[in-house]
Amino acid sequence: MKHLLKLADLSREEILSILNLADQLKYERKNGIDQTGYLKGKTLIMIFSKSSTRTRVSFDVGITELGGHPLFLSNSESQIGRGEPVQDTARVLSRMAHGIMIRTFAQQEVEDLARYGSIPVINGLTDYCHPCQVLADLMTIREYKGSFRGLKLCFVGDGNNMANSLMVGAVKMGMKFSIACPKGYEPDAKLIEWAKREGDFSMCDDPVEAARDADVLYTDVWASMGQEEEKKVREEAFRNITIDREVMKAAKPGAMLLHCLPVHRGEEVSEEIFEEHAEEIFDEAENRLHAQKAVLVKLMK
Ligand code: CP
Ligand code: NVA
Repeated sequence: MKHLLKLADLSREEILSILNLADQLKYERKNGIDQTGYLKGKTLIMIFSKSSTRTRVSFDVGITELGGHPLFLSNSESQIGRGEPVQDTARVLSRMAHGIMIRTFAQQEVEDLARYGSIPVINGLTDYCHPCQVLADLMTIREYKGSFRGLKLCFVGDGNNMANSLMVGAVKMGMKFSIACPKGYEPDAKLIEWAKREGDFSMCDDPVEAARDADVLYTDVWASMGQEEEKKVREEAFRNITIDREVMKAAKPGAMLLHCLPVHRGEEVSEEIFEEHAEEIFDEAENRLHAQKAVLVKLMK
């Protein structure tokens, strides 16, 4: 494994190995074991062309705890925002740092950074996928449920970057995957084909039907970063694509609810259902730190 560009590039064994290391790093941190030897003296460049709280903080804290150094580059304050080609940025950063984490719009930009540079590249979210988030999600599911085999993961919402990555993660780990989304807002067509071929995949526009017997429910915002102008149209299209008590009732008793955050209460999930599941959702947010530290160690050590 040289990069983390999308989950589809990783084998089931590679994913499990990251999750195992993440569990170990979480244990070490909770027990005050020094971790600064893992990546002593290594620099991680963090490029952000979109907003972030969790991804930025967890990578910054993560590389620091591992003995390395974070360097934040915003799109607007670097030459990237003024049009310096990604081929050149990749080659310059490769001569000065040891890894790059990037959050941007086009998946191609992330793939190009990896192609033209010579250091590991980590995808911190694109319009297409969000692999770091799904590694933390898988870690959380395993913490609560013990294993993945036979579980059903149901996503209620837009066929966006989260849906694309969750599908891949679920199928690779042997979970059934169902999605409820409005017509016209389905996940990536090629990924749907792949998931139908490789796993147990179903899609409809009724959250109650999709949630039937699910072990894990998942949702995300109706309008992602970069889709602000579609907000009104999407509010109309997604009105019924929401997790409320009725949807939770269709799932298995004791089903989990996960959300990558930030949440829009009263849109994709009701306030009361969100708060009832806050413990697992904030464990999930914390696990971003542990899962990404595992990725950093795997790629940069
Ligand atoms: N879930 C997630 O990636 O959060 P941020 O946008 O705050 O990084
Ligand atoms: N789908 C959301 C995820 C945020 C973590 C977005 O892209 O804005």
